[in-house]
Amino acid sequence: MSKRFEGQIAIVTGGGGGIGSAIAKRLASEGGVVIVTDSNLEGATEVARDITQSGGRAEALQADISQGAECRRLVAEVLKRHTRIDVLVNNAGIMRRGNIMDISEDDWNITFAVNIDAMFHLCRAVIPGMIAQGGGAIVNTASQWGLHPAPNHIAYNVSKAAVASFTQNLGRDCAPHKIRVNGVCPGEVHTPMLEAGVKRSGRTMADLDRLVPFGRVGKPEEIAALVAFLASDEAPYMCGSLVEITGAQAVA
Ligand SMILES: NC(=O)c1ccc[n+]([C@@H]2O[C@H](COP(=O)([O-])OP(=O)(O)OC[C@H]3O[C@@H](n4cnc5c(N)ncnc54)[C@H](O)[C@@H]3O)[C@@H](O)[C@H]2O)c1
Repeated sequence: MSKRFEGQIAIVTGGGGGIGSAIAKRLASEGGVVIVTDSNLEGATEVARDITQSGGRAEALQADISQGAECRRLVAEVLKRHTRIDVLVNNAGIMRRGNIMDISEDDWNITFAVNIDAMFHLCRAVIPGMIAQGGGAIVNTASQWGLHPAPNHIAYNVSKAAVASFTQNLGRDCAPHKIRVNGVCPGEVHTPMLEAGVKRSGRTMADLDRLVPFGRVGKPEEIAALVAFLASDEAPYMCGSLVEITGAQAVA
């Protein structure tokens, strides 16, 4: 495995979850010191422990990033410990099902707080340091559904469309500072979030696999490989880009 993140400090939000844990492990396996942050401290701690046990460097930090103050506290704590942040992966996200009439106001609000407002707060806290150090990389997890909406997920889809636009805007504004901002738009990926959705819909994982031309849904490690590429110096001219990773699946 190459060591593209040797000497770098990386924050991964939602690092205790399916895709976030794969991203944290990938960045650590390539030499990064990874701050695994999640509202679920137990999940984050387990991931940080796995990384440490396999010879990598990671620290678990709890933060509820739906709160702006928590985002600022998280970044301040990382800067206190490590003095710099090279990579920010805004991966945490939640999915609340429902069309405009079904979804509750609370579900609408929390979806936006976690999926997009947190990126605003975390980027504002991280970017001044990246400017001072001469650059950095930010990778945001949007979704294929933010570009091509699936039915009955209006809050999720609109929040992910906002992530896509936020990524393009931030990429454009930060490019002169050599801060590269890019986004990934996964189709369905086998994680706890997907399993919960499948259970609610009455379908099985095999049903989902059959809907993908590639023959199966994605694996967290496949998203992690793309995130690592975008965050690394191997993508020096990628900025403001959105990359779909879907196994050629069209949204049905
Ligand atoms: N799984 C998929 O099919 C899929 C497809 C496209 C995009 N995505 C996106 O990928 C990202 C990761 O999803 P996943 O499938 O790994 O989900 P997951 O549920 O396994 O992980 C999400 C993590 O975010 C954390 N989190 C939720 N609210 C938080 C908060 N307020 N503060 C801090 N952490 C919080 C959760 O505790 C969890 O560990 C999300 O942004 C999701 O929208 C997932």
